[in-house]
Amino acid sequence: MNFIITDTYEEMSRMGAAEIEAVMADNPQCVLGLATGSTPIGLYADLVADYEAGKISFKDVTTFNLDEYRGLAPDHDQSYHWFMADNLFNHVDIDPARTHVPDGFDPDAEAACAAYEEAIEEAGGIDIQLLGLGHNGHIGFNEPADNFPVATHCVTLTESTINANSRLFDSIDDVPHEAYTMGIGTIMKAKKILVVASGEDKAAIVKQAFFGPVVPEVPASVLQLHPDVTVIVDQAAAQACEMGSTEAVISMTVE
Ligand code: F6R
Repeated sequence: MNFIITDTYEEMSRMGAAEIEAVMADNPQCVLGLATGSTPIGLYADLVADYEAGKISFKDVTTFNLDEYRGLAPDHDQSYHWFMADNLFNHVDIDPARTHVPDGFDPDAEAACAAYEEAIEEAGGIDIQLLGLGHNGHIGFNEPADNFPVATHCVTLTESTINANSRLFDSIDDVPHEAYTMGIGTIMKAKKILVVASGEDKAAIVKQAFFGPVVPEVPASVLQLHPDVTVIVDQAAAQACEMGSTEAVISMTVE
């Protein structure tokens, strides 16, 4: 695991964008796995800026998002379809037909999730999967559990996740209680994984996830077993890791 600490959120975002752009440069027809949430917003802004500066093109890129709330229409302003359009897709030259977000509006959970898993396979798998980190260690909507769910599936969100996400809805009662999410197995099949985390409130879970035991009660801990993971966190999110450096960027290899 390559664990990188940056001074600021902005630097974390820039380095994260550079990781994705390196994959795009290597293969303009690459398949990107994308995440929503507050953390990658700066990274997406950097991708848009680099597109506008003519440095990158999404013309032949395919994307698959991690997850979507069940029951929200794609044009609901808290749907992850909407988030991706607003933060990335509407601002770059991506072909909308090549962008994929689980169909949360399909009431047939089994069919929707199976179709999603199949579409990822058909696209040749994910070249780089971007992840944020939930306060309880969730990745995608894979919540702490007594096992690691394998494929795309329907989940019931925990109280912690509903509370965390309620900041984006008019009221906590409006937060959906279910979501469709890639499984841990789907995520682990990605060729590369990029995790971004920022802020003091993520410090405890960053330490647990990347320096604690690999257990399904901390879903992100499984990433320690992936052969090509880069974790980029800002100083605030790294503070519990006790690496005690004031360097702008520290890169270390965790065997
Ligand atoms: C988003 C997702 C979630 C978030 C996580 C962190 O698609 O799957 O796992 O990455 O909840 O969210 P933020 O970045 O808002 O702290």
